Amino acid sequence: MKKVLVTGGLGFIGSHTVVELQEKGYEVVILDDLSNSSIDVLAGITAITGKAPIFEKLDLKEKAKVESFFEQHQDIDGVIHFAASKAVGESVEKPLLYYENNINTLVYVLKSILQLPTQNFIFSSSCTVYGQADEMPITESAPIKAAESPYGNTKQIGEEIIKDTCRSNTTLNAIALRYFNPIGAHSSTKIGELPIGVPQNLVPFITQTAAGLRQELSVFGNDYPTSDGTCVRDYIHVVDLAKAHVVALERLVSGNNADNYETFNVGTGTGSTVLEVIQSFEKVSGQKLNYKFAPRREGDVIQAFADTAKANTDLGWKAERNLDEALLSAWKWEKHLRNI
Ligand code: WQD
Repeated sequence: MKKVLVTGGLGFIGSHTVVELQEKGYEVVILDDLSNSSIDVLAGITAITGKAPIFEKLDLKEKAKVESFFEQHQDIDGVIHFAASKAVGESVEKPLLYYENNINTLVYVLKSILQLPTQNFIFSSSCTVYGQADEMPITESAPIKAAESPYGNTKQIGEEIIKDTCRSNTTLNAIALRYFNPIGAHSSTKIGELPIGVPQNLVPFITQTAAGLRQELSVFGNDYPTSDGTCVRDYIHVVDLAKAHVVALERLVSGNNADNYETFNVGTGTGSTVLEVIQSFEKVSGQKLNYKFAPRREGDVIQAFADTAKANTDLGWKAERNLDEALLSAWKWEKHLRNI
Protein backbone atom coordinates (compact mmCIF):
# COMPACT_ATOMS: atom_id res chain seq x y z
CA MET A 1 0.00 0.00 0.00
CA LYS A 2 1.40 3.41 -1.01
CA LYS A 3 1.97 5.81 1.90
CA VAL A 4 1.28 9.54 1.54
CA LEU A 5 2.10 12.36 3.92
CA VAL A 6 -0.49 15.16 3.91
CA THR A 7 0.65 18.29 5.75
CA GLY A 8 -2.27 20.47 6.84
CA GLY A 9 -4.42 17.38 6.36
CA LEU A 10 -7.06 18.50 8.88
CA GLY A 11 -7.73 21.72 6.99
CA PHE A 12 -10.53 22.41 4.51
CA ILE A 13 -8.91 21.14 1.30
CA GLY A 14 -6.52 18.81 3.10
CA SER A 15 -9.26 16.82 4.84
CA HIS A 16 -11.23 16.36 1.62
CA THR A 17 -8.05 15.20 -0.09
CA VAL A 18 -7.31 12.69 2.69
CA VAL A 19 -10.77 11.16 2.14
CA GLU A 20 -10.13 10.78 -1.59
CA LEU A 21 -6.65 9.32 -0.98
CA GLN A 22 -7.98 6.75 1.48
CA GLU A 23 -10.78 5.82 -0.89
CA LYS A 24 -8.16 5.24 -3.56
CA GLY A 25 -6.34 2.84 -1.24
CA TYR A 26 -3.52 5.05 0.02
CA GLU A 27 -2.25 4.89 3.59
CA VAL A 28 -2.36 8.48 4.84
CA VAL A 29 -0.22 10.19 7.49
CA ILE A 30 -1.41 13.67 8.51
CA LEU A 31 0.78 16.37 10.03
CA ASP A 32 -1.12 19.39 11.28
CA ASP A 33 -0.37 22.00 13.96
CA LEU A 34 -4.10 22.61 14.55
CA SER A 35 -3.54 26.39 14.28
CA ASN A 36 -6.32 26.68 11.68
CA SER A 37 -8.11 23.34 12.00
CA SER A 38 -9.77 21.08 14.57
CA ILE A 39 -8.85 17.60 15.77
CA ASP A 40 -12.57 16.76 15.33
CA VAL A 41 -11.93 16.69 11.57
CA LEU A 42 -10.02 13.41 12.11
CA ALA A 43 -13.22 11.76 13.33
CA GLY A 44 -15.10 13.20 10.36
CA ILE A 45 -12.61 11.68 7.92
CA THR A 46 -12.72 8.33 9.72
CA ALA A 47 -16.52 8.35 9.74
CA ILE A 48 -16.55 8.77 5.96
CA THR A 49 -13.89 6.22 5.00
CA GLY A 50 -13.96 3.83 7.93
CA LYS A 51 -10.17 4.20 8.18
CA ALA A 52 -8.40 6.41 10.73
CA PRO A 53 -5.44 8.23 9.15
CA ILE A 54 -2.24 8.29 11.21
CA PHE A 55 -2.10 11.76 12.79
CA GLU A 56 0.75 13.69 14.41
CA LYS A 57 0.40 17.23 15.77
CA LEU A 58 3.51 18.96 14.50
CA ASP A 59 4.51 22.55 13.83
CA LEU A 60 6.52 22.50 10.60
CA LYS A 61 8.34 25.66 11.72
CA GLU A 62 10.24 23.39 14.13
CA LYS A 63 13.00 22.23 11.80
CA ALA A 64 14.42 19.53 14.08
CA LYS A 65 10.98 17.96 14.52
CA VAL A 66 10.43 17.93 10.77
CA GLU A 67 13.79 16.18 10.24
CA SER A 68 13.03 13.68 12.97
CA PHE A 69 9.58 12.91 11.53
CA PHE A 70 11.00 12.15 8.08
CA GLU A 71 13.79 10.03 9.53
CA GLN A 72 11.09 7.83 11.05
CA HIS A 73 9.04 7.73 7.83
CA GLN A 74 11.53 6.88 5.09
CA ASP A 75 8.87 4.78 3.36
CA ILE A 76 6.76 7.77 2.24
CA ASP A 77 5.82 7.53 -1.46
CA GLY A 78 4.52 11.08 -1.78
CA VAL A 79 3.95 14.34 0.09
CA ILE A 80 1.00 16.67 -0.44
CA HIS A 81 1.81 19.99 1.21
CA PHE A 82 -1.23 22.06 2.29
CA ALA A 83 0.11 23.42 5.58
CA ALA A 84 0.28 27.21 5.27
CA SER A 85 -1.47 30.39 6.38
CA LYS A 86 -3.95 31.57 3.76
CA ALA A 87 -5.80 34.73 4.80
CA VAL A 88 -5.00 37.52 2.36
CA GLY A 89 -5.94 40.36 4.72
CA GLU A 90 -4.07 38.87 7.69
CA SER A 91 -0.96 38.50 5.52
CA VAL A 92 -0.95 42.25 4.90
CA GLU A 93 -1.06 42.92 8.66
CA LYS A 94 1.43 40.17 9.62
CA PRO A 95 3.79 39.57 6.67
CA LEU A 96 6.56 37.95 8.72
CA LEU A 97 4.13 35.40 10.15
CA TYR A 98 3.29 34.45 6.55
CA TYR A 99 6.90 34.33 5.34
CA GLU A 100 7.91 32.21 8.31
CA ASN A 101 4.90 29.89 8.23
CA ASN A 102 4.65 29.49 4.47
CA ILE A 103 8.26 29.65 3.32
CA ASN A 104 10.47 28.30 6.14
CA THR A 105 8.23 25.25 6.48
CA LEU A 106 8.35 24.58 2.74
CA VAL A 107 12.16 24.65 2.81
CA TYR A 108 12.29 22.25 5.78
CA VAL A 109 9.85 19.82 4.13
CA LEU A 110 11.72 19.89 0.81
CA LYS A 111 15.10 19.34 2.49
CA SER A 112 13.70 16.28 4.25
CA ILE A 113 12.05 14.92 1.11
CA LEU A 114 15.45 15.01 -0.62
CA GLN A 115 16.62 12.44 1.97
CA LEU A 116 13.87 9.99 0.96
CA PRO A 117 14.27 7.11 -1.49
CA THR A 118 11.06 8.28 -3.29
CA GLN A 119 10.65 12.03 -3.81
CA ASN A 120 7.15 12.99 -5.05
CA PHE A 121 5.76 16.37 -4.00
CA ILE A 122 2.43 18.11 -4.63
CA PHE A 123 2.27 21.82 -3.72
CA SER A 124 -0.86 23.75 -2.82
CA SER A 125 -0.58 26.87 -4.95
CA SER A 126 -3.17 29.41 -6.02
CA CYS A 127 -4.46 31.40 -8.99
CA THR A 128 -3.50 34.38 -6.89
CA VAL A 129 -0.01 34.03 -8.41
CA TYR A 130 -1.41 35.52 -11.63
CA GLY A 131 -2.68 38.70 -10.01
CA GLN A 132 -5.08 40.34 -12.47
CA ALA A 133 -4.34 38.28 -15.58
CA ASP A 134 -4.64 40.16 -18.86
CA GLU A 135 -6.50 37.41 -20.69
CA MET A 136 -9.38 35.15 -19.69
CA PRO A 137 -9.50 32.22 -19.28
CA ILE A 138 -6.13 32.05 -17.55
CA THR A 139 -3.58 29.53 -18.84
CA GLU A 140 -0.56 28.19 -16.94
CA SER A 141 1.67 30.27 -19.22
CA ALA A 142 0.02 33.53 -18.16
CA PRO A 143 2.61 35.90 -16.70
CA ILE A 144 3.20 35.80 -12.95
CA LYS A 145 2.60 39.38 -11.87
CA ALA A 146 3.64 41.29 -8.76
CA ALA A 147 1.75 39.72 -5.86
CA GLU A 148 -1.19 41.69 -4.44
CA SER A 149 -0.43 40.46 -0.88
CA PRO A 150 2.26 38.75 1.18
CA TYR A 151 0.08 35.64 1.06
CA GLY A 152 0.11 35.68 -2.74
CA ASN A 153 3.85 36.39 -2.64
CA THR A 154 4.46 33.29 -0.51
CA LYS A 155 2.77 31.19 -3.21
CA GLN A 156 4.91 32.77 -5.93
CA ILE A 157 8.09 32.36 -3.89
CA GLY A 158 7.06 28.82 -2.99
CA GLU A 159 6.75 27.86 -6.62
CA GLU A 160 10.16 29.37 -7.39
CA ILE A 161 11.75 27.46 -4.50
CA ILE A 162 10.30 24.19 -5.76
CA LYS A 163 11.26 24.90 -9.38
CA ASP A 164 14.86 25.70 -8.41
CA THR A 165 15.06 22.62 -6.18
CA CYS A 166 13.72 20.38 -8.94
CA ARG A 167 16.24 21.84 -11.38
CA SER A 168 19.17 20.97 -9.10
CA ASN A 169 17.71 17.67 -7.86
CA THR A 170 16.38 15.57 -10.73
CA THR A 171 15.40 12.92 -8.19
CA LEU A 172 12.62 15.27 -7.00
CA ASN A 173 9.32 15.19 -8.93
CA ALA A 174 6.89 18.01 -8.15
CA ILE A 175 3.55 19.41 -9.26
CA ALA A 176 2.13 22.78 -8.22
CA LEU A 177 -1.67 22.89 -8.33
CA ARG A 178 -2.96 26.46 -8.77
CA TYR A 179 -6.38 26.45 -7.12
CA PHE A 180 -9.08 28.84 -8.16
CA ASN A 181 -11.85 29.30 -5.60
CA PRO A 182 -12.56 26.15 -3.55
CA ILE A 183 -16.10 25.97 -2.10
CA GLY A 184 -18.58 23.42 -0.81
CA ALA A 185 -18.28 20.34 1.37
CA HIS A 186 -18.33 16.55 1.30
CA SER A 187 -21.82 15.14 0.61
CA SER A 188 -21.75 13.28 3.94
CA THR A 189 -21.70 16.67 5.83
CA LYS A 190 -19.06 15.10 8.08
CA ILE A 191 -16.33 17.48 6.88
CA GLY A 192 -16.44 20.95 5.37
CA GLU A 193 -15.09 24.47 5.66
CA LEU A 194 -14.57 25.73 9.25
CA PRO A 195 -13.72 29.42 8.96
CA ILE A 196 -12.41 30.92 12.20
CA GLY A 197 -14.17 34.14 13.19
CA VAL A 198 -15.83 36.29 10.54
CA PRO A 199 -15.45 34.53 7.17
CA GLN A 200 -13.29 36.43 4.70
CA ASN A 201 -14.43 34.32 1.75
CA LEU A 202 -17.70 34.76 -0.10
CA VAL A 203 -19.39 31.38 0.21
CA PRO A 204 -19.02 30.77 3.95
CA PHE A 205 -20.23 34.32 4.51
CA ILE A 206 -23.27 33.59 2.35
CA THR A 207 -24.12 30.36 4.18
CA GLN A 208 -23.62 31.98 7.61
CA THR A 209 -25.88 34.86 6.57
CA ALA A 210 -28.55 32.41 5.40
CA ALA A 211 -28.17 30.53 8.70
CA GLY A 212 -28.75 33.75 10.63
CA LEU A 213 -25.21 34.09 12.05
CA ARG A 214 -24.53 37.23 9.98
CA GLN A 215 -26.88 40.15 9.46
CA GLU A 216 -26.30 40.59 5.74
CA LEU A 217 -23.69 39.99 3.05
CA SER A 218 -21.76 43.00 1.75
CA VAL A 219 -21.07 42.64 -1.95
CA PHE A 220 -17.71 44.31 -2.40
CA GLY A 221 -18.26 46.46 -5.46
CA ASN A 222 -20.86 46.44 -8.22
CA ASP A 223 -19.14 48.88 -10.54
CA TYR A 224 -16.61 46.51 -12.10
CA PRO A 225 -16.43 46.08 -15.89
CA THR A 226 -18.25 42.72 -15.80
CA SER A 227 -21.67 41.49 -16.95
CA ASP A 228 -23.42 42.72 -13.78
CA GLY A 229 -20.73 44.92 -12.19
CA THR A 230 -19.56 42.32 -9.63
CA CYS A 231 -16.30 40.36 -9.66
CA VAL A 232 -15.89 37.08 -11.52
CA ARG A 233 -14.28 33.98 -10.00
CA ASP A 234 -13.99 30.28 -10.83
CA TYR A 235 -15.71 28.44 -7.98
CA ILE A 236 -14.65 24.80 -7.82
CA HIS A 237 -16.23 22.12 -5.62
CA VAL A 238 -13.69 21.11 -2.96
CA VAL A 239 -14.27 17.40 -3.75
CA ASP A 240 -13.29 17.99 -7.40
CA LEU A 241 -10.23 19.83 -6.16
CA ALA A 242 -9.39 16.98 -3.79
CA LYS A 243 -9.65 14.45 -6.62
CA ALA A 244 -7.22 16.55 -8.67
CA HIS A 245 -4.60 15.98 -5.95
CA VAL A 246 -5.01 12.21 -6.16
CA VAL A 247 -4.68 12.30 -9.95
CA ALA A 248 -1.59 14.51 -9.69
CA LEU A 249 -0.01 12.20 -7.09
CA GLU A 250 -0.68 9.15 -9.26
CA ARG A 251 0.96 10.95 -12.19
CA LEU A 252 4.15 11.24 -10.11
CA VAL A 253 3.98 7.82 -8.46
CA SER A 254 3.55 6.16 -11.86
CA GLY A 255 6.33 8.27 -13.41
CA ASN A 256 4.00 9.72 -16.05
CA ASN A 257 5.03 13.33 -15.47
CA ALA A 258 6.43 15.11 -18.53
CA ASP A 259 8.93 17.10 -16.48
CA ASN A 260 10.08 16.97 -12.87
CA TYR A 261 8.34 20.30 -12.19
CA GLU A 262 4.85 20.95 -13.60
CA THR A 263 2.05 23.40 -12.83
CA PHE A 264 -1.68 22.95 -13.44
CA ASN A 265 -4.63 25.31 -13.08
CA VAL A 266 -7.36 23.61 -11.09
CA GLY A 267 -10.73 25.22 -11.73
CA THR A 268 -13.98 24.50 -13.54
CA GLY A 269 -13.16 26.78 -16.48
CA THR A 270 -16.37 28.74 -15.83
CA GLY A 271 -16.45 32.21 -14.32
CA SER A 272 -19.33 33.35 -12.10
CA THR A 273 -20.07 36.84 -10.81
CA VAL A 274 -20.85 37.42 -7.13
CA LEU A 275 -24.48 38.12 -8.07
CA GLU A 276 -24.64 34.86 -10.03
CA VAL A 277 -23.37 33.03 -6.93
CA ILE A 278 -26.07 34.70 -4.84
CA GLN A 279 -28.75 33.79 -7.39
CA SER A 280 -27.55 30.19 -7.52
CA PHE A 281 -27.53 29.98 -3.72
CA GLU A 282 -31.07 31.37 -3.48
CA LYS A 283 -32.20 28.81 -6.04
CA VAL A 284 -30.65 25.75 -4.40
CA SER A 285 -31.43 26.80 -0.80
CA GLY A 286 -34.91 28.18 -1.47
CA GLN A 287 -33.89 31.11 0.73
CA LYS A 288 -33.73 34.80 -0.10
CA LEU A 289 -30.28 36.13 0.81
CA ASN A 290 -29.96 39.43 2.65
CA TYR A 291 -27.24 41.47 0.95
CA LYS A 292 -26.24 45.03 0.09
CA PHE A 293 -23.70 46.60 -2.23
CA ALA A 294 -20.57 47.96 -0.52
CA PRO A 295 -17.35 49.59 -1.71
CA ARG A 296 -14.77 47.51 -3.54
CA ARG A 297 -12.37 45.41 -1.40
CA GLU A 298 -8.72 46.39 -1.82
CA GLY A 299 -6.64 43.78 -3.60
CA ASP A 300 -9.55 42.12 -5.40
CA VAL A 301 -8.94 41.29 -9.03
CA ILE A 302 -11.81 41.97 -11.42
CA GLN A 303 -11.98 38.49 -12.83
CA ALA A 304 -10.16 35.16 -12.66
CA PHE A 305 -11.24 31.88 -14.18
CA ALA A 306 -9.19 28.95 -15.42
CA ASP A 307 -8.28 27.61 -18.79
CA THR A 308 -8.47 23.93 -17.79
CA ALA A 309 -7.17 22.44 -21.06
CA LYS A 310 -3.81 21.41 -19.60
CA ALA A 311 -5.33 19.74 -16.55
CA ASN A 312 -7.97 18.05 -18.72
CA THR A 313 -5.52 16.67 -21.31
CA ASP A 314 -2.15 16.24 -19.57
CA LEU A 315 -3.39 15.50 -16.07
CA GLY A 316 -6.49 13.68 -17.26
CA TRP A 317 -8.67 15.46 -14.68
CA LYS A 318 -11.84 17.52 -15.11
CA ALA A 319 -14.20 19.10 -12.57
CA GLU A 320 -17.47 17.17 -12.48
CA ARG A 321 -19.61 19.32 -10.15
CA ASN A 322 -21.19 22.67 -11.04
CA LEU A 323 -21.85 25.84 -9.05
CA ASP A 324 -25.34 24.80 -7.94
CA GLU A 325 -24.07 21.47 -6.58
CA ALA A 326 -21.17 23.13 -4.79
CA LEU A 327 -23.39 25.76 -3.17
CA LEU A 328 -25.98 23.19 -2.13
CA SER A 329 -23.24 21.12 -0.46
CA ALA A 330 -22.00 24.25 1.33
CA TRP A 331 -25.52 25.02 2.52
CA LYS A 332 -26.11 21.43 3.75
CA TRP A 333 -22.81 21.63 5.67
CA GLU A 334 -23.78 24.97 7.26
CA LYS A 335 -27.16 23.56 8.32
CA HIS A 336 -25.39 20.52 9.80
CA LEU A 337 -23.01 22.80 11.75
CA ARG A 338 -25.92 24.87 13.14
CA ASN A 339 -28.34 21.95 13.64
CA ILE A 340 -30.93 23.60 11.40
C1 WQD B 1 -14.55 36.11 -3.93
C2 WQD B 1 -15.36 37.29 -4.44
C3 WQD B 1 -14.93 39.34 -3.29
C4 WQD B 1 -16.57 38.19 0.57
C5 WQD B 1 -9.16 34.36 -1.95
C6 WQD B 1 -7.67 34.23 -2.03
C7 WQD B 1 -7.33 32.97 -2.76
C8 WQD B 1 -7.95 31.82 -2.04
C9 WQD B 1 -9.47 32.00 -2.06
C10 WQD B 1 -6.68 30.80 -0.26
C11 WQD B 1 -14.55 38.57 -4.53
C12 WQD B 1 -16.38 38.89 -3.08
C13 WQD B 1 -16.15 38.16 -0.75
C14 WQD B 1 -17.64 39.03 0.96
C15 WQD B 1 -17.84 39.76 -1.32
N1 WQD B 1 -7.48 31.77 -0.70
N2 WQD B 1 -16.79 38.93 -1.66
N3 WQD B 1 -18.25 39.80 -0.02
O1 WQD B 1 -10.59 36.84 -2.89
O2 WQD B 1 -11.21 35.44 -4.94
O3 WQD B 1 -9.67 34.50 -3.25
O4 WQD B 1 -9.73 33.23 -1.35
O5 WQD B 1 -6.25 29.86 -0.86
O6 WQD B 1 -5.92 32.81 -2.78
O7 WQD B 1 -7.16 35.32 -2.77
O8 WQD B 1 -12.06 34.78 -2.69
O9 WQD B 1 -14.18 34.33 -1.52
O10 WQD B 1 -12.63 36.17 -0.64
O11 WQD B 1 -13.90 36.53 -2.75
O12 WQD B 1 -18.40 40.46 -2.17
O13 WQD B 1 -18.07 39.11 2.14
O14 WQD B 1 -16.41 37.55 -3.52
O15 WQD B 1 -14.90 40.75 -3.48
O16 WQD B 1 -15.00 39.30 -5.65
P1 WQD B 1 -10.88 35.52 -3.50
P2 WQD B 1 -13.21 35.44 -1.80
